[in-house]
Amino acid sequence: MINKEELKNEAIKARELSYSPYSHFKVGAALLTKDGKYIYGANIENSAYGLCLCAERNAIFGAYMQGYKKEDIIALGLVTDSPKLASPCGSCRQVMSELLSHDVPVYMFTLKGEELVKTVEELLPYSFDSDNLDK
Ligand code: THU
Repeated sequence: MINKEELKNEAIKARELSYSPYSHFKVGAALLTKDGKYIYGANIENSAYGLCLCAERNAIFGAYMQGYKKEDIIALGLVTDSPKLASPCGSCRQVMSELLSHDVPVYMFTLKGEELVKTVEELLPYSFDSDNLDK
């Protein structure tokens, strides 16, 4: 079961782990697994800017490295402190589309209380996937 407030609070805790000395824009992500665990991700930046990694991808890769697969993940929560709700970048949407079930809800929160929820499919319809590689 998804507890929205808890998901937001876990994403807030993840956000505290952000390493973002260049953008000063902290993003927190929390993935909820079927067995009730939260897996954290935060954005980790680099002075070679192109190497910055988003919170969403850090959380998803972290889950896979702990042995979770797409069928084990039931929700993703994100939190930022922007006045306007931040939604996942295009690269993260493609990674979500590959590694999460398309009906997984992605909750976007701001610290100030804005929120929006969209499924992975809604965030990236008509995605490129392994079927497209069939000859
Ligand atoms: N960022 C994320 O972590 N997730 C997103 O979906 C958008 C952007 C990070 C990358 C960078 O560290 C900072 O936010 C500013 O772009």
